[in-house]
Parts: sequence; C-alpha cells; structure tokens
Amino acid sequence: LDDPDFYAANPHPALRQLRTCEPVYWCERGGFWALTRYVDVRSAARDARVFSSAGNVMIDEVSNLERAAQRGLEAGELMLRSDPPRHTKLRRVVQQAFAQSSVQQLQNDIRHIVEKRLNSMVESGGTVDFVSQFSQTVPMDVVCLFLGLPAADAPFLKKLASVQAGGHGLESGQAFEASVVARRELFDYLNDQLAQRRRTPTIDLLTVLAHAQIDDQPLHEATQQLFAADLLIAGTETTDATISGGLYELFSRPDQLGRLRRQPDLIENAVEEMLRFISPAIGMVRMVTEDVRMSGKLLRRHDHVALLFIAANRDESVWQQPDEFDVERANARQHLAFGFGRHTCIGIWLAKLELRIVFQMLLERCPDLELVGEPVPLASTLVKSLSRLPVRIPR
Ligand code: HEM
Repeated sequence: LDDPDFYAANPHPALRQLRTCEPVYWCERGGFWALTRYVDVRSAARDARVFSSAGNVMIDEVSNLERAAQRGLEAGELMLRSDPPRHTKLRRVVQQAFAQSSVQQLQNDIRHIVEKRLNSMVESGGTVDFVSQFSQTVPMDVVCLFLGLPAADAPFLKKLASVQAGGHGLESGQAFEASVVARRELFDYLNDQLAQRRRTPTIDLLTVLAHAQIDDQPLHEATQQLFAADLLIAGTETTDATISGGLYELFSRPDQLGRLRRQPDLIENAVEEMLRFISPAIGMVRMVTEDVRMSGKLLRRHDHVALLFIAANRDESVWQQPDEFDVERANARQHLAFGFGRHTCIGIWLAKLELRIVFQMLLERCPDLELVGEPVPLASTLVKSLSRLPVRIPR
C-alpha cells in the first residue's frame, strides 16, 4: 500500500480482499493503518478531532519520514495540513471565490480555454498523446485563470507542478531532488506575482491572498505563497487524472459512449461516475490524537491512518457491481472522490464545472476520436493518473 506501482497496476482485487477480510489493516512497511470501507473512511474524514490533518497527510510522507522532513512541511499553514480552528480561518480566506455561484461566472472563460486546446489538438490531427496535448493543459489554464496568473505562464507552471508532484512516490532520489528544486522555483515565481498584487491590487484571487488577514493580522508572505502553490498543484493533477482517465473509461466502452451521445444530459452523472470509478486522489493520511477502536482494532494515539478513497469508492455495500463503469449509475454522486468532512475538496465546484464542459465539448467536437494503444499509468501513491494516452483524431 506504500508502493506507487501497486496503484499504477490494478489495485482493486487486493483492495476488495482487504475490505472483506481486514478493513482496518496495519501496513507494516508503510507504518500506517489503512481503511478501505466506505463507512470507516467517511467516519474518519468526518472526525477532525480524533483524526488530525496537522502534519503529514500523504502516504509517501508517512512511509518515508525523512523525505517528508526534507520537503519542508509547513503544518498549520496549509488548509490541507491544519486542524480547526486554524483550518477554518485559512479556508474562510478563499471560501467565497470557490463558491458555486462565483465559479459559475467563469463558465464562458473555461469554454474558451477548452475550445482553444481542442482546436489545437484537432489541428495537429493524426495520432496524439491526449495527456500532454490536452488533459494536462486545460486544468493549468483554468487554475491560472482562477488565480489571475498570466495565461502565457501556464506551460512553465505545468512543468514545475508535474516535477513537483513527481516527487510523490517515485522511488528515485533524483526525482525527489528535482521536485524540491521545482518547488523552490515555483515559490519564487509566486512570490513575485504576490508582491505585484501587494503593490497594485487587481480583482483576482492572488490579490485576495496578498491582502488577506486572519485575526486582524496580515497573512505571512510565506503562507500566501504556500496557499497559492497548493491551489496550483491540488487543482491540476487530480483534474488532469479525471479527464484522461474518464476519456479512457468512456471511449473503451462503445455502449456507454453511445448512451452519452444519444443523451448528452447524462454528462453530469457520467462525470460523477468517472470520479467514483477512477478516484483520482488515492487517499489521504491522518494522525490519531487519542486511542480509538475501529472494527475490533486498537489505533493508538500518534498512529497514522490512510483513508483510501480509491477503495471506499468501490465498496460493494454502497454500489452494486462497483467494478462496472456505468454512466447511468443512480447513486454515483455518493462517492468520496473529493473527500468528506471539513477537508472536503474546496475546488469541488470548479472541478465539476470544468469536467462537464470538457466532456460536453469533447463529444461535440471530436466525435470520431479513437483510442489507439494502451494507456501508460503514472506510478504514484497520491494520484491515480495516466502519463500517456495515445488517441487518433481523424482529419
Ligand atoms: C477532480 C478534481 C479533484 C479531486 C478528485 C480532488 C480531490 C480532493 C480531495 C480528496 C481532497 C481532501 C483531502 C483530505 O481529506 O485531506 C481535496 C482537498 C483540496 N482540494 Fe481538491 N480535488 C480536485 C480538484 C481541486 C481543484 C480544481 C482545486 C483548486 C483549484 C482543489 C483544491 C483543493 C484544496 C485547497 C484542498 C484542501 C481543502 C482543505 O483541506 O480544507 N482541488 N481535494
């Protein structure tokens, strides 16, 4: 469970066995408990007092504490790595920008982004890599729009974010070193952008961050950078994974694709099913703050626990035939792909809007797109994604 290759291959048969035989499982090598049942994952995510986020929250950090320390964790200053009351205050800074009504106003701009990227993919024609040509580009364009960063900087930021995320799970020390360097470069860039907003405020989310206050105190500059970096990274890898994985699941099942073509109003539900089926955020870790019993096991204070969303989203007690991909599944939206409780993904409305627009426009503009060749999975303990997906677009 601490091995990136386990998730890159098909982890589901093993996860099913854990759900059935040992739903609260001690992963000796990784040094953490693993929760695989829907009810357990949800109840741990809901209880931020007993299951704390203030510290290491990623599988590879817990299984390699030395690396986690090198990564320079700033516990308490990131939403993802904090508990109430600090978490509530940090989240409040950006809550309004992420509200469904605010995000809805970006609809036309997102359409333009998707259209531009689709046009350039269609123009290249022939066989292309869908990941590098499309699914990696759109989410970064959208997050740049959302933060107020220049669109022209998106490719450079994409490169930094990918190298940085590459550090999650790749065994080679080199990849990890590269991820640390990329992180520094990203922070320098964001520092410049934030400094510009401090001098000359505009109407974008970076300006909100640059002038934010908590308890009447300005947000520390390092916290502002962390905040912005977090949004750039959290908002891109997972959305990319859903676009490329979703395309693969859909286009490898002609019956499902046909249903969606005949009934485009199914797209909203199809996106929920993609999120459930792929479960792009594999799982997050919490630290137990007091001894607690779960399914007969005693979890001790300071133990780490992985909430495996990827396993919970295939729980057979919630979904019938959970390993089937069904765009009409009635309870698809019950998934935990965005987590649950206080740390539920703040980008949920932005991600859903973007995914709906992407699949609507893909079906309209590229009706004859074909999968050619096998997808190449990404080896990571953080994101269930593809690093390559060859497709053919007839000219
Ligand atoms: C399909 C796309 C996405 C998926 C599957 C996803 C998944 C998740 C999950 C599972 C969490 C919970 C983490 C935890 O419980 O510890 C989370 C939190 C978060 N996500 Fe997303 N996310 C997506 C898109 C986005 C976007 C577009 C943004 C921003 C632009 C974003 C920003 C965040 C942030 C800032 C948090 C931390 C929230 C907190 O701790 O209060 N995510 N996401």
